[in-house]
Amino acid sequence: MSRWDIAQEHEKAWWGEEFSKIQLKGIITQYSGLIPVFESKMNMTDDWKILDVGCGPTCASLLFRKGEKYGIDPLMDDYAKTCVLPKGISLMKGVGENIPFPDGFFNLVISRNALDHMEDPEKVMKEIKRVVKRGGYVILSVYVYTPFVTGIHKFVERHVKCLREEEHPHFFTAEDIQALCKRNGFSVVSEHHLGDPYFAKPAPKPRKIVLKELPKKVFFKLVYVPFWKAVKLCNSVLGNKWQCGDYVIFAKS
Ligand SMILES: C[S@@+](CC[C@H](N)C(=O)[O-])C[C@H]1O[C@@H](n2cnc3c(N)ncnc32)[C@H](O)[C@@H]1O
Repeated sequence: MSRWDIAQEHEKAWWGEEFSKIQLKGIITQYSGLIPVFESKMNMTDDWKILDVGCGPTCASLLFRKGEKYGIDPLMDDYAKTCVLPKGISLMKGVGENIPFPDGFFNLVISRNALDHMEDPEKVMKEIKRVVKRGGYVILSVYVYTPFVTGIHKFVERHVKCLREEEHPHFFTAEDIQALCKRNGFSVVSEHHLGDPYFAKPAPKPRKIVLKELPKKVFFKLVYVPFWKAVKLCNSVLGNKWQCGDYVIFAKS
């Protein structure tokens, strides 16, 4: 099994009807202020075509009031069985590394909380660039870390496999995402740090206790979370740029 296949197996286990409803509520709360800002900057019209890459069963692109929406996700067939899929969007199984649409088809491509789950984010950005019209837009929302915490995650991912975050094959700083956009021909319009929703409330879905995961759970509770909270405290003193949390980049092709 490849690293990505393992991540996807874990991803599949997370989702269900109740969890997707809770997630969607969080997404609406988090983005309701930003969506009108983006809409006004893009002069969006009803005939716009919008792609949601790694849309999951939540489909954040539906928050836009205008446009024809399309969503791709490799787990779409599984979500169709375990979740109630939203209406108003054409959904299909597919990966960001090979987007099943012609060049320049979309006015806007969005991807929320998916880039760090993918197999090859660089290839995905190339594909996004290909399917976005000239002068079109991309909105990427990614959970980012400070350079220091990113380094720790990468170290654990490579060398302490028993403690790695299985569902995340990649870890990024905000600067990494910015560079990824620029390297692939996008110019940044604006950036937004939305903070960290993770510690705001307890994880909504209790996962099944699997005995072999117990050491990891204990480690997370006793070491990782307190360490993280300390880092976050330092970050809040150092300023916004250094926050771990949801980061949104809005860029033009
Ligand atoms: C944490 S979920 C986020 C779902 C949704 N965007 C949201 O914000 O609720 C990450 C999603 O990325 C999808 N994903 C993983 N690898 C992908 C790839 N190579 N191309 C497109 N989507 C991928 C997963 O199947 C999963 O549905």
